[in-house]
Amino acid sequence: MNRLQLIKSLVKKRNYKHYLEIGVFNGHILFRIPSTLKIAVDPSFRFTWLRKWGKTLLKPHNLRNRYYQKTSDTFFVEDACRIFDGKKIHIALIDGMHEYAYALRDVENTLQYLDDNGVIIMHDCNPVSADAAATFDEWQTKKPGTPWNGDVWKTIMHLRCNRDDIRVFVIDCDHGLGIITKGVPDDMLSFTPEQVEELTYAHLECNRDKWLNLKSVDYARTYFGI
Ligand SMILES: C[S@@+](CC[C@H](N)C(=O)[O-])C[C@H]1O[C@@H](n2cnc3c(N)ncnc32)[C@H](O)[C@@H]1O
Repeated sequence: MNRLQLIKSLVKKRNYKHYLEIGVFNGHILFRIPSTLKIAVDPSFRFTWLRKWGKTLLKPHNLRNRYYQKTSDTFFVEDACRIFDGKKIHIALIDGMHEYAYALRDVENTLQYLDDNGVIIMHDCNPVSADAAATFDEWQTKKPGTPWNGDVWKTIMHLRCNRDDIRVFVIDCDHGLGIITKGVPDDMLSFTPEQVEELTYAHLECNRDKWLNLKSVDYARTYFGI
């Protein structure tokens, strides 16, 4: 299972109409999601108007796409309130800046507009190596093409320590798909935000399953009935 398959299955099964994607890059995921209202946020989209038109001709579900070329923080300050007034988010993919504090703000801001039966999917929650878990500045010094998951895994931990109103787990596929839904969690962790900030990749390696609430693809299929 990858993020595209998961999102498409959920949209089909639950008839989700309102989709938000933070961090869109070339639209590889965005253009393939068959929701009727898709909100795309990225300070630096990697596609031209020609690709946009082409994708709309091929797939009319792209006709109502709205593009916000700005950071997610600016989007939530300037636009979100108006867009999601009376139109809750059914499903969101959070895949922008892969750093703890950024990803946490993205989740908390998205939760404000999430439908009670909605789902947030956060990419890159289960880093594949210490290199992939580097900070943005460290990663920029590495060989081009080095995968970058950042420390989004700390966002998962933070939510599992501080939010008793959401369920959080990570599916063990596609670099770790973080799943966030409304509801009472089965269990929580107890670290302060400062302690989470200090943790390293070595700590994660010893505690991956427990800290991330790592679950198999089969578990996710049963959880969502897909
Ligand atoms: C890994 S790519 C997204 C890939 C895409 N979601 C997919 O699945 O194919 C990350 C994107 O996040 C964008 N980004 C970086 N900082 C951001 C921010 N503060 N807010 C929103 N997007 C950001 C980058 O411009 C980049 O296009």
